[in-house]
Amino acid sequence: MVRIIHHDLLILGSGIAGLRAALAASIASKGKLDIGMLSKIQLMRSHSVSAEGGTAAVLRPEEGDSHELHAWDTVKGSDFLADQDVVFKFVEIMPSEIRTLDKWGIPWSRREDGRIAQRPFGGHSFPRAVFAADKTGFYEMQTLYDTLLKINDFTRYDEFFVTSIKVKNKKFMGLTAIDMRTGEFLGFTAKALIIASGGAGRLFGFTTYAYTVTGDGVAMAFKAGIPIKDMEFLQFHPTGLIPSGILMTEACRGEGGYLRNKDGERFMSKYAPSMMELAPRDIVSRSIITEILEGRGFKGPRGLDYVHLDLTHLGAEKITTRLPQIREIAMKFVGVDPIEEPIPIRPVAHYSMGGIHTNIRGETPDFEGIWVAGEAGCSSLHGANRLGTNSTAECLAWGKITGEEAAKYIEKNNTSIDVDQKVFDEEESRIFKGLMQQKGTESVYKIREELKNVMDHKVGVFRDKKNLEEAVAKIKELKERIKHVEIKDKGRIYNTDLTYYMETNFVLTVAHIMAEGALRREESRGGHARRDFPKRDDEKWLKHTLAYPDGEDGVRFEYIPVTITTWKPVERKY
Ligand code: FUM
Repeated sequence: MVRIIHHDLLILGSGIAGLRAALAASIASKGKLDIGMLSKIQLMRSHSVSAEGGTAAVLRPEEGDSHELHAWDTVKGSDFLADQDVVFKFVEIMPSEIRTLDKWGIPWSRREDGRIAQRPFGGHSFPRAVFAADKTGFYEMQTLYDTLLKINDFTRYDEFFVTSIKVKNKKFMGLTAIDMRTGEFLGFTAKALIIASGGAGRLFGFTTYAYTVTGDGVAMAFKAGIPIKDMEFLQFHPTGLIPSGILMTEACRGEGGYLRNKDGERFMSKYAPSMMELAPRDIVSRSIITEILEGRGFKGPRGLDYVHLDLTHLGAEKITTRLPQIREIAMKFVGVDPIEEPIPIRPVAHYSMGGIHTNIRGETPDFEGIWVAGEAGCSSLHGANRLGTNSTAECLAWGKITGEEAAKYIEKNNTSIDVDQKVFDEEESRIFKGLMQQKGTESVYKIREELKNVMDHKVGVFRDKKNLEEAVAKIKELKERIKHVEIKDKGRIYNTDLTYYMETNFVLTVAHIMAEGALRREESRGGHARRDFPKRDDEKWLKHTLAYPDGEDGVRFEYIPVTITTWKPVERKY
């Protein structure tokens, strides 16, 4: 019989959103909640530590910034698919989040007058990116973690691989997890769950994401019957380092860096004459790919043709103080010192605008007791294209919102949890008697390679019917073939053969939702650019996609309206 551990609140994931949610819940309940946080890795290894460029917030109304302007930039950047009530809630919360982190000790970069510094970022019409050099995510994590160590109503389960989310009568019941260190299979129950497990970028090969970012929370929520929203919108960040894909932060361009093609031309003047390199990411990424396809790029390894990110005119002082990590990475990974030479880059899979469907409070509308914060969720803040620095900001904002909401819910619903032991026992059997005994000659590693390949080449910056149909067919084939993989490691302790298998199932689930959603959406909007439907079509497609599980392996789609409170869609020009 599976051993079951009880908490008041469970948090799945330990990045910025998860840590902020834990703090918010603890503060809201005055330390009375018993919180459990599960992560498949050690807390400070969460992918949030890789966030580089900054966190958006309005701090300087006296210099011309305003909530309304931040909201407008976000809505226009989203190609009008963002829910505008959600956007206003977000911009109003963010300034106090920056000050809260300041109070908790974060070393924000400062202006000469000692005030918190801000720099320009793509699609923002005011320099509102608050930053800590080019290691913003790392310092945010460190500060939240430090603060969390001061509360004692919190238990960490590091290196616990969560295998499923259990709901009963559309209400949260629990999680199942493998303690990687001992191999023990455990159940966890609580009155509420906050999913903060991050994105799904590792379904692409060329990506900025850590190897751990495999859409676990999204795929498990889907399996539990919770709809996934707008998953066809995947953001390609314009500047991934060749050939690793490591993020070369947009702050490089925020600090004044240029993009140049092989003729040395600042080509963005053709595509976004007023914002140039600081146009939103969807536009800059399409521009770079166009330059490459029209023969104005450099030949790169493995087909990774590229253009240049040129910082040489910024000078050593600026690069070493504002972009020290970028310099270190460029020197170590490609032997390029950006003070002297341009950096080879091309667009790279970076962020999922879509995720688990939630309402404005981060709550899953049809399921009780489940909230989602950060990239795993989709409250429809980013619509079809996220602006840079609105992501760490979203993690903070919805970490706070969901932590407080879940604490309120637990206080009101202080009844015992209806636990069904059988469900936990069945999940253990599914894994250890089912998956682990599976026979076959397929290789999970080959399946993952084939998936990355099809996503990189057929569900990329530019898409069309033929490629998307081929991608969907391939993903379906891989979903069949994975049933014929034998997990070779039969042990229980740190069985990464088993966890890689489960992660591959997660990415296949997410890839299926993404590719099929993209095939159905016959228009171009934000990060979803169709060659065969090059225009935005507000008449037919100003709506959110919801994907539901259909039978054992299928996906069923429904659509819901976008909330428009203030601005009607207009042509997007930069
Ligand atoms: O370019 C960057 O530093 C990325 C920021 C973001 O995705 O928000």
